[in-house]
Amino acid sequence: MHSVSIATILIFAYGAIIPSTSGFAARDASSRTRRPPPNRTRRNPSSSSSPKPKRAPHQFDHTKEEARPFLDNNLAVKEQLVNDDAPEYTFEDDDTEQATIIPDGTHLVYFSLDELFPNIADLGFSHKFCTDGKFRDDLRNSMREDIFDSTPAYENLPAKARKILLLPDSSLQGSWTCRDETLRMKKLTEVLKHHLGEQSPTGDEFMEAIGSLCGSEPSYHWIDIVGVMNRRIPHSWHQDTGRSRGGDTKTVLLGFPKEDNYSGVGVFSHAVKLKYEKVSYKEHVLDDPVVYSGLKIDDEYIVRPQFEQGKEIVMFRDVDVIHSSPDVAYRSSVMRFM
Ligand SMILES: *[C@@H]1O[C@H](CO)[C@@H](O)[C@H](O)[C@H]1NC(C)=O
Ligand SMILES: *[C@@H]1O[C@H](CO)[C@@H](O)[C@H](O)[C@H]1NC(C)=O
Repeated sequence: MHSVSIATILIFAYGAIIPSTSGFAARDASSRTRRPPPNRTRRNPSSSSSPKPKRAPHQFDHTKEEARPFLDNNLAVKEQLVNDDAPEYTFEDDDTEQATIIPDGTHLVYFSLDELFPNIADLGFSHKFCTDGKFRDDLRNSMREDIFDSTPAYENLPAKARKILLLPDSSLQGSWTCRDETLRMKKLTEVLKHHLGEQSPTGDEFMEAIGSLCGSEPSYHWIDIVGVMNRRIPHSWHQDTGRSRGGDTKTVLLGFPKEDNYSGVGVFSHAVKLKYEKVSYKEHVLDDPVVYSGLKIDDEYIVRPQFEQGKEIVMFRDVDVIHSSPDVAYRSSVMRFM
């Protein structure tokens, strides 16, 4: 009974998040048009004419029907290779005459929390973040609470729903923008001051600093993605929308490792570097994912970006790579700024 009520609240809450006025479109299937009633006639699985229900990329974390047996992800990630030097991938239908070749070494760019605030000396942000699990938890939880409490769509939810949505093992979405004159990220500001000292940036400055890495014409969408732990899940390759609106527009991931001093894979999404820019069709609805269902990619092409001190952030243009949740995740969460 309990789980039914939780599921209902989650669907209700996600369905409510359509603050299009605040500059991002909800990307959750439950907020789209209502699904037709289930058709109990068995479909021929190889029939490609039957449209599959759309899913937001982060929902692929939750495809239960494809769940695999339990696994010790901590051990499993140790056997996976970063493979930063993977060859570039080409699609059969790449337009080799017209398409733009992506320069070597630009597909995935690492960045650090220290580099975010070059004008504040001795902040020790990266070191503190990577070595102090309490700081990471406080940072993440305060950010989630501040975003939750300042998102109009969440305003009228019952206290019980708030509590459930803010549990650290559930994903949460909203907007990262902090352009108002009044301080938005109040709890985050306190956490930063407490752990980094008086010279620390405010929570609003922190959000805007990471958000600025998204380049021009960002969508302002933010999501804290948890995903499946203790199982291996199949890769599900996609682009978030298949555009880089301003040409420099990037997706930015901030990783939250599960343990201190972590250096390894399983925190960030996995990616495949493309040889040619892959731009979605003109007709493609902006902010709708481009999903390559059933695409199997040889292991030699798969990059599993490494999390470690100095590499707390990884970013990419959505036209330069296709990406997927890690097949083996080992993290508290990953935050995506777009
Ligand atoms: C149900 O699915 C079957 C097989 O895909 C199809 O032939 C049939 O028309 C569907 N029925 C309805 C009511 O959509
Ligand atoms: C992580 O590294 C710091 C020094 O950089 C050290 O003080 C701490 O004990 C380490 N923690 C773990 C769990 O290894």
